Amino acid sequence: MKTPIRVAVTGAAGNIGYALLFRLAAGDCYGPDQPIILQLVEIPPAMKALEGVCMELSDAAFPLLHGIETADNPHDGFKGANQIFLVGARPRSKGMERADLIQANGAIFTDQGKAIEAGAADDVRAVVVGNPCNTNALICASNAKGVAAGRITAMTRLDQNRAVSQLASKTGCLATDIKRMAIWGNHSPTMYPDFYNATIKGQAVTELADEAWLQGDFVTTVAKRGAAIIEARGASSAASAASAAVDHMATLWHGTAEGDWASMAVPSRGEYGIPEGLMFSFPVTIKDGAYTIVEGVSHGEFADKKIAATRDELLKERDVVKDLL
Ligand code: NAD
Ligand code: LMR
Repeated sequence: MKTPIRVAVTGAAGNIGYALLFRLAAGDCYGPDQPIILQLVEIPPAMKALEGVCMELSDAAFPLLHGIETADNPHDGFKGANQIFLVGARPRSKGMERADLIQANGAIFTDQGKAIEAGAADDVRAVVVGNPCNTNALICASNAKGVAAGRITAMTRLDQNRAVSQLASKTGCLATDIKRMAIWGNHSPTMYPDFYNATIKGQAVTELADEAWLQGDFVTTVAKRGAAIIEARGASSAASAASAAVDHMATLWHGTAEGDWASMAVPSRGEYGIPEGLMFSFPVTIKDGAYTIVEGVSHGEFADKKIAATRDELLKERDVVKDLL
């Protein structure tokens, strides 16, 4: 059995937290031989509810769960953490866009960035799930300048998974047949799910699905899926978001499969003309815990327009939070 790693989760008493913690404790992220110690972080009013979640975690007697610690602030909660899931933030409700949450949630990530820098383990990796996640990750990383660039990322894996699932049901294939389904840009309706470079059993997606559908309904369904779930469920996605967060961190931990890509929002270093520092979702490959943005992906006019729109939206969001950077 390996030495346990420390995994911190904020918003641990919330809806995503409730789905995420049990997946982590079951070994779904780091594998069946990797024990973990959970460091659960909440705000003071939610500590009582967190106590109940801890009781349930403990009642499940997970073999890989070697400890549970709780904290009502990130400075205590992130001490020595190797892996951090930044989930805690307000979700949107019907009729809101995720960007409307900037005022409510942005400031959370200044203190959390400082806490990561001050106390997390040297090998820390963090994923921001709380919305608007790209810009929150930018705030977090800007307040953790001592942490190597790229250690703090934001989650667009849910969008990738949604895109894969839409393609699978349209073409009658399995999700595992689909490769290189990359999301570009912001986790918002401007995102670009790049079907042109994705493949199904090695064949171009455009050979198997109608291009008008791909450019139209497919892109819209993926980009607006979060709002459709809120409309139907009366609450934002939780179990699928937790599952995507597991996928995001598991891919960083175990690496991407040969020939495949993963989508995650990472700081741009100017790739594809995206301004430096912007937290932009790119296709990446991952090896030994480090990602590399895939270079040389070709884009046509449709993609260029979509990528420019999502870039411009992220630049506007960056401007709104400039005082927090
Ligand atoms: P929720 O309201 O059920 O839970 C949020 C939890 O966070 C609450 O328990 C709250 O007490 C806690 N919290 C708030 N501020 C905190 C802080 N400063 N430190 C620690 N904990 C804090 O919400 P949820 O459904 O779990 O969603 C959480 C966030 O994830 C929302 O912002 C939501 O929009 C976002 N989300 C993102 C994606 C994505 O794909 N990136 C997908 C789904 C949801
Ligand atoms: C999602 O995509 O489901 C989440 O970002 C929640 C939301 O507000 O849409």
